[in-house]
Amino acid sequence: MTLETVAVLAVPKLAFGRGASTEAGAHLRALGVKRALLVTDAFLAQIGLHEPVLAAVRAAGIEVEVHAVPAGEPTEVSMRAAADAAIAGGYDGVIGVGGGSALDTAKVCALMAKHGGELRDYVNAPIGAAKPPPGPVLPLVAVPTTAGTGSEVTAVAILDLPDEKVKTGISHPYLRPLVALVDPDLTLGLPAAVTAACGIDALLHAAEAYTSRPFTTREAAPDPAHRPAYQGSHPLADVWVRHAIELCGRFLERAVADGSDLEARSGMMMAATAAGVGFGNAGVHIPHACSYPIAGLRHAWHAPGYPGEARFVPHGLACAITAPAAFRMTEAALPDRHREAAELLLARPVERDDRTALGDAVLALMRSVGVPTGLREVGYDADDVPVMVEGALKQQRLLQCAPLEVGAAEIEAVLRESL
Ligand SMILES: NC(=O)c1ccc[n+]([C@@H]2O[C@H](COP(=O)([O-])OP(=O)(O)OC[C@H]3O[C@@H](n4cnc5c(N)ncnc54)[C@H](O)[C@@H]3O)[C@@H](O)[C@H]2O)c1
Repeated sequence: MTLETVAVLAVPKLAFGRGASTEAGAHLRALGVKRALLVTDAFLAQIGLHEPVLAAVRAAGIEVEVHAVPAGEPTEVSMRAAADAAIAGGYDGVIGVGGGSALDTAKVCALMAKHGGELRDYVNAPIGAAKPPPGPVLPLVAVPTTAGTGSEVTAVAILDLPDEKVKTGISHPYLRPLVALVDPDLTLGLPAAVTAACGIDALLHAAEAYTSRPFTTREAAPDPAHRPAYQGSHPLADVWVRHAIELCGRFLERAVADGSDLEARSGMMMAATAAGVGFGNAGVHIPHACSYPIAGLRHAWHAPGYPGEARFVPHGLACAITAPAAFRMTEAALPDRHREAAELLLARPVERDDRTALGDAVLALMRSVGVPTGLREVGYDADDVPVMVEGALKQQRLLQCAPLEVGAAEIEAVLRESL
């Protein structure tokens, strides 16, 4: 086997800073868009957060209509409805304004409006047929309003299939937005609970990417133009995720404690986008793989502080719960990287023989920002572990990025330690 020696970093055109979102019209016009679909969510549409962006698009002479996705995270039904609206409207561009839920839906709209077909044609196997889009999707501009998912820079869209009790996604480089407008002002009204969950998601994107299996342990890509989306930790991704971990350590507690703290909001916005660039090229591993069954298995818990009444475990929380146990397990495989990540988060040196530093540091931050730290807190117990193990094992795309071999025994141990 010939091992990989080259790593790739794919990134949209990035605009960062106060007011960046109001440049949306100029960017759409530069992409040649004349009639756009703006995808947001029902809560944001109600409070009008998307309105300055809408006005900017109209001011650029672009026709634009709004589709608001229902509360909660995207499902196959909500994505299909959005895709139908996108197909019917005769649009030539899409702009997403919202958290990961709206941005992921915007990606699917851009795909389906260009290429049609059934959603499941494109959904990851084994649930879908994992068919690659036949060509580029409609031009897509992404405007995040949460500091967490990094969806504005990644090539994946996640959806929930509640009847099948599973979450999965559509993953292809064509889904990566062409432009990301990252405007910290949009997060000033984000509730503390959402700030905390999204911030921990960003931290885990960065910490999992930094501790993922090094790209040089993978078989060399047969076609250099088509390397896997998740290549494992590599130097180009490291630059972004190291910065993201440090920013989460400096700013997450402040952003949760005082939502009007613009320096902290800017720091977290940068952290989320930087973490997205990093993990969108390197990958994530055990905590994210475990998050899929935690979020998908049961829809019975309402996250305190989240808008609306929808019952689900928000993505950031679903990832957080197993992270301390997962890092305690993976530290042995890459001790230096785990120690470095802990040092960046804590902004101080960590003893060489401290083999649980990253798991402990993440747990301490979770406690400090009020994030649930055990499965029981979100409605699960020991009886749920076997079916969660099965669910996590289906996420081989992610588990292959872990720095050690992960099978049922390892997942079960992590889940039991996270009860
Ligand atoms: N594509 C990717 O790379 C990627 C990565 C991680 C997660 N995800 C997916 O993203 C989804 C979660 O996204 P999220 O965590 O950003 O949450 P979200 O988009 O579901 O938003 C959470 C809540 O916050 C509200 N909200 C958003 N912005 C706000 C603002 N500025 N002010 C006030 N309220 C605001 C929303 O209306 C919603 O009620 C999940 O489906 C997850 O699986 C995608």
